Amino acid sequence: MLEGKCVLVTGASSGIGRATAILASQLGASVILTARREDELEKTRQLMANSASHRIVVGDLTDFGFVRQLVEESGKVDGLVYSAGASFIAPVGLISEPRFESLMRVNCHAFIELMNQYANRCFRKDKFSAVAVSSVAASAGWAGGAAYCATKGALSAAVRAMAVELAQKGVRVNAVCPSTVDTPLVEPARKMDPDAFAAKIKADQPLGLAKPEQIAAAICFLLSDAASFITGVELPVDGGYLAK
Ligand SMILES: NC(=O)c1ccc[n+]([C@@H]2O[C@H](COP(=O)([O-])OP(=O)(O)OC[C@H]3O[C@@H](n4cnc5c(N)ncnc54)[C@H](OP(=O)(O)O)[C@@H]3O)[C@@H](O)[C@H]2O)c1
Repeated sequence: MLEGKCVLVTGASSGIGRATAILASQLGASVILTARREDELEKTRQLMANSASHRIVVGDLTDFGFVRQLVEESGKVDGLVYSAGASFIAPVGLISEPRFESLMRVNCHAFIELMNQYANRCFRKDKFSAVAVSSVAASAGWAGGAAYCATKGALSAAVRAMAVELAQKGVRVNAVCPSTVDTPLVEPARKMDPDAFAAKIKADQPLGLAKPEQIAAAICFLLSDAASFITGVELPVDGGYLAK
């Protein structure tokens, strides 16, 4: 499904990004893995098919000097998966300016900066596919979610606009919107109150808690030529969360 393609996967040291890198390798892609933790990226690479054929580039995406270096080092790629991200749950009265700015930078602005760099250097004339990992938080709200929901709403809006603008260059831009997925991102909430966490999943997600592999499958579909007429969508991969 991804044979012959080279794909950059951000957030590849953990969770959804790791599962995507593994699946993409199994589907025939060569993958450039990036995140801040080199040891975890190496762990991902060891779990991939043809592990020797994938590259690791370590760095912090909130540093836009690194983003430029990453795009230079990655060369021409056929796809980008933006799975880097962070969570921040706090009441509105506790959203400090630096905290919000750093959340917005990693959850949204760095994706726009990556696309900016690719647009100026090396979009291939055809078949570039970008997939951003947004969230149901782009369209649903919850107490304590103002900052996180704002970053995901902005990310989804950027995806729509880029899809329209870049279609004529053969570039597709889509988002997947998961509900709660079993990754380290949700560990603090689960640890704080395991019963409340389980009850919330039961109430909110008819298909239960998602596995990262289930999100990766949707991402790899959108990356692939099987989705060649799909652009600008925000695909819920949410076990029925938004259907309720
Ligand atoms: N898990 C969920 O329930 C859920 C639901 C909806 C949407 N999402 C979204 O899915 C995406 C992936 O989340 P996940 O659940 O897979 O979380 P995760 O397991 O915590 O992974 C987050 C990834 O982002 C990377 N990252 C964080 N800050 C970075 C930075 N400044 N520079 C470079 N890389 C950075 C981390 O790598 P390093 O720490 O090594 O840098 C890690 O690989 C996020 O955007 C999240 O908002 C998750």
